[in-house]
Order: sequence, then structure tokens, then C-alpha cells
Amino acid sequence: MEVSDVSFAYRNQDGTHMLALRDVNLTVQRNEFVSIVGQSGCGKSTLLRLLAGLMAPNRGRITIDGDATTHPRRNISLAFQKPTLLPWSNVLDNVLFPFRHQSRPVGRDEIARARELLSMMGLLDFAERRPGELSGGMQQRLALCRTLVTEPDILLMDEPFSALDALTRDELGVELLKICAVKPKTVVLITHSIAEAVLLSDRVYVMSSRPGTLCDEVEIKLPRPRLPEVMRAPLFQEFTTHVRDLVQQHSVRQS
Ligand SMILES: Nc1ncnc2c1ncn2[C@@H]1O[C@H](COP(=O)(O)OP(=O)(O)OP(=O)(O)O)[C@@H](O)[C@H]1O
Ligand SMILES: [Mg+2]
Repeated sequence: MEVSDVSFAYRNQDGTHMLALRDVNLTVQRNEFVSIVGQSGCGKSTLLRLLAGLMAPNRGRITIDGDATTHPRRNISLAFQKPTLLPWSNVLDNVLFPFRHQSRPVGRDEIARARELLSMMGLLDFAERRPGELSGGMQQRLALCRTLVTEPDILLMDEPFSALDALTRDELGVELLKICAVKPKTVVLITHSIAEAVLLSDRVYVMSSRPGTLCDEVEIKLPRPRLPEVMRAPLFQEFTTHVRDLVQQHSVRQS
């Protein structure tokens, strides 16, 4: 995945423009796990929407396997910052929605995979319930099942664990790594948790405050497989401190 000199401005309702991203450069290798951290409002979700092909850059170029991302692709799954669930469908049907959306048949294998993911996320007992009957964190876990069910090659995740308690968050992060180990994927994760970024990633990018640009990159040289215990290691603490310092350095006070 190659992002070259990408800039993007939103058009405000009064016709003025707001530059969200400026000269963003990013390369993600196949099956690499990359995280992006940075101050709230710096442009992280904007970059993810561009990577997903939901919007086009004003300047620069984004390619995946050499092809320009001019439209959403089938082998990419995007987990939005807010879980966008179908309120009238039950939990299982919400997980299966991507197949229906892509007009793909839903057979025994797809249902088994959906149930397996629900079990992993602790939601199997709620398979027949509606999203409105779930807590915020449960809805987020459900959205995660839906993101993973099609076994995409590329996962774009926008703060997928933000509504979860700290322990569940670490556990699900490690589950995600296990899923990636069984069927390797290219992952771009946006998170406000520096510890989570370090725990999961091969590289962490730091985005500057708006207009956002990727100004630093830290290679996380921790051995894999990674378990939550690694968070107690001195080397882990060194990486989180280093990334935190970089985020601070590239953030401005917001008024
Ligand atoms: N649809 C939109 N129309 C106009 N401006 C927008 C729109 N979406 C985002 N913005 C602006 O673009 C900038 C970047 O927003 P973005 O959502 O990418 O930030 P972010 O880094 O994901 O923030 P957070 O960490 O709070 O989720 C912000 O200043 C925001 O106000
Ligand atoms: Mg965001």
C-alpha cells in the first residue's frame, strides 16, 4: 500500500475549505501491521477513508498492489470509528451483512465463521438479539466480527477497541494478532492507545496536528508472538515512552 504526497481538504458548508491532510507519505508492506497515532482531529480517520477508497485525495496518489484506489475494493474491510450496525437485524445477521452486501452466498461455512467470531468476542449468547440491546463495547466487538468475517487481505481499523475496558482491549488485540498469524493480513490501525499500538504493530507512525502529516515512524522490534505480558518488559516501556514523546512533540494545544 503506497501513499505518495497525499493532501486532502474538506469543503465546509459555507463553501470554505479545511485542509485536513498535507503531503502524507506512507508505505505498508504486504502482511505488515502498522498503527497510526496522533492528536484528536489531526486527520487519522480522513487518511483511513482515503485508503479505503471512500474518498479521493485532492493531490497525490494512493495505490494498492500498484492499482489506484479510486473505489472501495472487496478484499478490504474497514472498521469505522463508530460501529455502524443495522438496528433491525439481529447480531448474527449483522455479522453476515458484508456477504449479503457483496451479493455473496451465505452457506454453512459463512455462518460457522460468523459464530466462531462471535464466540471469540464473547457474543455468541447474544446472536439472536438486536444491536440496541447491547452495550457500547459489545456493539464495538460486534462491528469487529463483521469486519473480520469475510477474511479480508487488508484490514483498516479506526479505534476498534476504544469502547472496551483495558483488559478486554488487550485480550482482543492479542486475538487479532492470532487471527493475523493464521491468515496473514495487512493491517492499518488507528488508535489513541500508544501501548496498544506498540503491542500490536511492526511499525508505528506518528501524525502531526492538523493539517496532518506522518512525521515520524518507529519500528517496534519486539519478538512475536506477542502476549499481554510483553507490556511489562523494559523494552516495551522504552518504545511507548519514545512514541509518547514524539506524539507530544508534534501536537499543538487546541483552543
Ligand atoms: N465531513 C467533514 N467535513 C468537514 N470537516 C471534516 C469532516 N470530517 C472531518 N473533518 C475535519 O477534518 C479534520 C480531521 O478529522 P479526522 O476525523 O480525520 O480526525 P482524527 O484524527 O480521526 O480525529 P479523532 O482522533 O478525534 O478521531 C478535523 O479538523 C475535522 O474537523
Ligand atoms: Mg478519527
